[in-house]
Amino acid sequence: MRTIGVGIIGTGGWGAMHARTYAGTPGVAVRAVADIDMKRAEALAASYNATAYDNYGALLADPSVEAVSIVTPDFAHEEITLAAARAGKHILAEKPLAMSVEACERIVAEAEHAGVLLMVDFHARWSPPLCKAYEAIRNGEIGEPRHVYYRLNDRLFVPTEMLSWAGRSTVLWFIGSHAIDTVRWLLGDEVCRVYGLARSGMLSARGIDTPDFYFSMLEFRSGAVAVIENSWILPNSTPHLVDVKCELVGTKGALYMDATHNRTLEKYTESEAGYPDMFVMPSIHGRQQGFAAESIRHFVECVRDGKQPMVTGRDGLIATKVICALEESIQTGQPVDLA
Ligand SMILES: NC(=O)c1ccc[n+]([C@@H]2O[C@H](COP(=O)([O-])OP(=O)(O)OC[C@H]3O[C@@H](n4cnc5c(N)ncnc54)[C@H](O)[C@@H]3O)[C@@H](O)[C@H]2O)c1
Repeated sequence: MRTIGVGIIGTGGWGAMHARTYAGTPGVAVRAVADIDMKRAEALAASYNATAYDNYGALLADPSVEAVSIVTPDFAHEEITLAAARAGKHILAEKPLAMSVEACERIVAEAEHAGVLLMVDFHARWSPPLCKAYEAIRNGEIGEPRHVYYRLNDRLFVPTEMLSWAGRSTVLWFIGSHAIDTVRWLLGDEVCRVYGLARSGMLSARGIDTPDFYFSMLEFRSGAVAVIENSWILPNSTPHLVDVKCELVGTKGALYMDATHNRTLEKYTESEAGYPDMFVMPSIHGRQQGFAAESIRHFVECVRDGKQPMVTGRDGLIATKVICALEESIQTGQPVDLA
């Protein structure tokens, strides 16, 4: 098996997760990492005997790098993704692909022109309970999906402590993009109309200029309706960093997913109670597992076999179109039709 050399641009919390996953994947070597914070890049590079760069351009010029993960903040994806495509690198882009429709269109066109693979890391498509739900829908066990409730919320910790750049994004971009992609994928349908509501106050009072939460109503071409809840203000005492629920009702059946209170393992210590992560990114015997890693390994398989990823740049573009339409709806107070 030939070794695929990868580079990671953005070496924060999630870039480190990409590096751990690649390093634990046979036939992959982390060759280079880049970050505008050189100390951070050097620290990550040292763990994998990789080269550290203080700018993404130098990493993209490195011939030992065949494929890149772009793991910079939400607002810093476009320029780097375009440059990676022009440099002929296969691309795993973190979500959101970019924060405007025009930017996503430029990226998709550039990747197509360059003939490189472009995958967006909507990793919920590898979540075991969601995959089982997907199978049940495709097998016809649930009938025609009619309505969906999808809740994907974070503890207050995420915008206030984990992300230094929350004020330059929103919870709708950060995790709502996942939820939109997941519902589209489950239904196998496209959004034709949206209505959104957002409220601010708690985060802005802390100097972080971003809404506290969004409620998004999506109408699909089949007539199915989804309501998506995305909040960044859950109390820090909630049992998980992320609270995720999905309820889907069809003409013949229903599916209810509660991945937050899975109770696979309840853990009580002297200071706290909780349910350790079993699905997203648990480390098992020192190896990165979970659906976040599965998605990255899928990208590696696509690079190795030259096949199209299960989530493409077009999926990233569509999620961005839906979010931009929701933002317009919130501004105008009116529903917005999607072409
Ligand atoms: N798929 C998921 O569930 C998931 C989970 C967490 C984060 N993410 C995404 O990953 C991305 C990064 O998030 P994070 O939590 O690691 O953020 P972070 O702030 O921890 O890390 C971002 C890193 O990018 C670096 N950076 C910024 N601009 C750069 C540039 N121009 N060139 C090179 N490096 C640059 C920063 O110095 C920082 O080290 C975001 O888009 C986020 O939405 C996805």
